[in-house]
Amino acid sequence: MIEVRKAVDNDCRYYVDVHCPEVKALPRDERLRVCGWWADYDACVFYLNLYRRLGGEVFTALINGEVVGEIELLPHDDCLLGPRAYINVLWVKEGERGKGIGTKLVNQGVKWARFRGYKYLDTIPEKESVGFYSKLGFKHIAFQIKAIKKLKPLHYSIDYRFNELNVNEPPLNMKLVIGTYRPGLFTWYSAWEDKYLPPQTSPLAYELVVEGKPIVTLLDYYRENEASLIIWSIETLNDELLRKAILVSEQLAIKAGIAKIFIQTWNIYEDLLRRLGYKIVDNDIIRLSKNIEKDQY
Ligand SMILES: CC(C)(COP(=O)(O)OP(=O)(O)OC[C@H]1O[C@@H](n2cnc3c(N)ncnc32)[C@H](O)[C@@H]1OP(=O)(O)O)[C@@H](O)C(=O)NCCC(=O)NCCS
Repeated sequence: MIEVRKAVDNDCRYYVDVHCPEVKALPRDERLRVCGWWADYDACVFYLNLYRRLGGEVFTALINGEVVGEIELLPHDDCLLGPRAYINVLWVKEGERGKGIGTKLVNQGVKWARFRGYKYLDTIPEKESVGFYSKLGFKHIAFQIKAIKKLKPLHYSIDYRFNELNVNEPPLNMKLVIGTYRPGLFTWYSAWEDKYLPPQTSPLAYELVVEGKPIVTLLDYYRENEASLIIWSIETLNDELLRKAILVSEQLAIKAGIAKIFIQTWNIYEDLLRRLGYKIVDNDIIRLSKNIEKDQY
C-alpha cells in the first residue's frame, strides 16, 4: 500500500537511500558534492524549509512505513510562459520503480498545484523519463538550451547603471528570461543561503538599468570562478536588449574574476547566444506541461 504525505524532517534521514545509496559511506562534503542535499540531514532540512518559505511543498511516498520516493514542488510565478506550478524533483527508489509510486506522487503534485489556483504543472524532466510524464498527460511545450562561454575582457560601449543587490532584494514581479532549469526565486535564495552545496561563495546580484529598462542579474557560483547567469526583466526582452544585458553581466562577472559563464534559457535565444560566442552544449531540453484545470478531466 503506497502512502503519500507531506515530508517531515525525519524523512531526511532516508532520502539518501532513495537518491544515491552508493554515497552513504563517503565523507559529508563528498556526499553533498556527488549526490546533493538529499545526502545530508542538515542540508535536507534547510531545503525542506526553503521550499515551504517560497510557497512550495515536498511530499514523501512510503510503502509499509519505508521511504521510497519524493516529489518537490514550487510555484513558478516568474516563468515567461505565465505563472504555473513546477516539479523541481521527482525520484523513486531504484528497486521500487514500476509500482505506481511516481504516478501517485505526480497526482499529489497536481492536487497541490490545483489547490493553489495554478492552471498548469510543468517540469523539465531527465530525458529518460519523458515517456513517464507523457503517460500522465504532460505535453511538450518548449525547448530550452544550455550554453557556456569562457569570458575574456573586451571593451563594450554600453551605457548602463547598476546597483548591487543583497538577499533581501529579490526580483519580485519580474520574469525569468535566462535561468537555470528551476524557478527563479528558488535559485535566488539557494544561491545566497545554502551553506551546504559547494562552492559556498556568495553570489553577485545587480539591478541594472539598460536603455531605461530595469533588469536584475544574478551570478550564482557553481565552481570557483565559474557561475550561472540568471536574468530577470519586467517583460520579454527583445534580442538587442537581452544582448546588452548579457554583455553588461559579463563585464560585471569579469570584474569579479569569473572566468566561465553557464546559461540555461529558451531556444529562441540560441542564435543570439551563438553570436555572443557561447558554445551550445545541449539544445533539446524538453519542457513539459500539464493543464490541470478540473474541466480537462
Ligand atoms: C521516472 C520515475 C519517477 C517513474 O516512477 P515510477 O514509480 O517507476 O512510475 P510508475 O510506476 O508510476 O509508472 C507509471 C507508468 O509510466 C511508465 N514509466 C515509468 N517510467 C518510465 C520511463 N522512464 N519511460 C517511459 N515510461 C515509463 C510505467 O511503465 C507505467 O506505465 P503503465 O501505467 O502502462 O504501467 C522513476 O523511474 C525515477 O525515479 N526515475 C529516476 C529519476 C527521474 O528520472 N525522475 C524524473 C525526472 S526529475
